[in-house]
Amino acid sequence: MEKIKIQPKKLPAKLAVLISGRGTNLQAIIDGIKGGEINATIEIVISNNPNAYGLERAKQANIPTKVIDHREFSTREDHERAILSVLAPLDIDLIVLAGYMRILTPLFIRPYYGRIINIHPALLPAFPGTHAQKQALEYGVRISGCTTHFVDEGTDTGPIILQKAVYVRQDDTEETLSQRILKYEHILMKKTIQLFCEGRLTLDGRKVIIEGIKSIEELGL
Ligand code: GAR
Repeated sequence: MEKIKIQPKKLPAKLAVLISGRGTNLQAIIDGIKGGEINATIEIVISNNPNAYGLERAKQANIPTKVIDHREFSTREDHERAILSVLAPLDIDLIVLAGYMRILTPLFIRPYYGRIINIHPALLPAFPGTHAQKQALEYGVRISGCTTHFVDEGTDTGPIILQKAVYVRQDDTEETLSQRILKYEHILMKKTIQLFCEGRLTLDGRKVIIEGIKSIEELGL
């Protein structure tokens, strides 16, 4: 299979961030851009949920927002077409799913394959889908963590970019484990976007090659 180098057309990279909720990962991106860790701009924040607190975070940072409520569309595809039509004129380099809780269909993914990333609160391929931290606790794993990956047509099945392991404590609740994982989600999110901005990501089938390192251990996450 052909290798595909994934990179922005020019810098700063143009991001669109899709959210559904409180938006702490969005905040990490906003802060990463402000602090000079990420060479990008957020062109728009789109939420399917009109009450998502992340919308307030975007407004505070003077980022345009758009609510596209899935409940107003009769099919998943119609909802996605509405999002695509908002994105089309913005010349977006990378779509970031930051706690976006809707599964995307091929209609959305195909035109953007390799340019959509997601963050997931478990070590994929373990515990895909919703409530990953609860799934991990109930299974009894000793180690969980978080993963960033390119989005493909499955649920949390796309090529893995970065992962960070987090120990599960015997007295963990869903909340305490989620909180410890979240801290590393923010770190992974920022690093993943910056690797993209630096043009260091190459897709080789379902593997991602990161230029300049042998192991992600070297990134000191
Ligand atoms: C994060 O923990 C993210 O990994 C998870 O939702 C949370 C959103 O938090 N995403 C998924 O579970 C996707 N399947 P945030 O709104 O504070 O960024």
